[in-house]
Amino acid sequence: MDAATTISPAVLILLGPPGAGKGTQARMLEDKFGLVQLSTGDLLREAVAAGTEAGNAAKAVMEAGDLVSDEIVIAILRDRMAQPDCAKGVILDGFPRTTVQAEALDGLLSENNQKINAAISLEVEDAEMVIRISGRYTCAGCGEGYHDTFKQPVEDGKCDKCGHTEFKRRADDNAETVASRLTAYHAQTAPLITYYDGQGVLKCTNAMGKIEDIASDLESIVGNAMS
Ligand code: AP5
Repeated sequence: MDAATTISPAVLILLGPPGAGKGTQARMLEDKFGLVQLSTGDLLREAVAAGTEAGNAAKAVMEAGDLVSDEIVIAILRDRMAQPDCAKGVILDGFPRTTVQAEALDGLLSENNQKINAAISLEVEDAEMVIRISGRYTCAGCGEGYHDTFKQPVEDGKCDKCGHTEFKRRADDNAETVASRLTAYHAQTAPLITYYDGQGVLKCTNAMGKIEDIASDLESIVGNAMS
């Protein structure tokens, strides 16, 4: 394939408040389209667990439900996007979350001759977030997400994906922190909907329905955006 016909790796952004289903849907899209899910929340939690300098700086901020500094998050994202597996194309889950991060992403993509295929806004009512987040848990082995009511393993106590039998809940999934996270979302992240509309890449989808129905809507949005 010559340079003129080279297709650059896809870049998809999932926008949406905490608990909107970004991680749930990103994992399904990853499987369906062979893309790599990049969750800055997961990357930050790994840094906290590893006790890196960035992780130590982020820990208290995350526990309070505030946003970690743009400088730290952009550096983590930049390092992760330089890994070879990202050449398959990426789904950004939880990044960007501020206009500074969005501008940094534009700069990074432009350096790599890449562009954003679509920024998809998952639209959910605030009251629903609290219900979703308070019932969330994940497999301790592979990170597959579950919910006490809406998404339980087929076999009780055993992960559908990897068979692991231990599960965990996030420290920031409590009522007080969720309120702070929603406030941060409305103040700092929601303006990105206008930002990406201005770039002509915004797609909006109603994320109040069943997980499978939303996945089906997203598959067609992503399929069109990648064609
Ligand atoms: P992060 O980990 O990104 O958390 P978040 O944005 O708050 O999003 P969540 O992971 O909580 O929700 P989700 O939308 O992925 O929902 P999920 O699919 O799990 O960030 C955590 C913290 O890190 C931030 O507060 C901040 O401090 C820091 N941070 C991260 N990125 C940053 C950045 N770029 N800049 C600065 N700071 C940053 O679904 C939730 C639950 O609902 C699950 O149990 C799921 O099974 C269930 N569910 C999903 N869809 C449905 C449905 N349709 N119906 C019913 N249940 C559903």
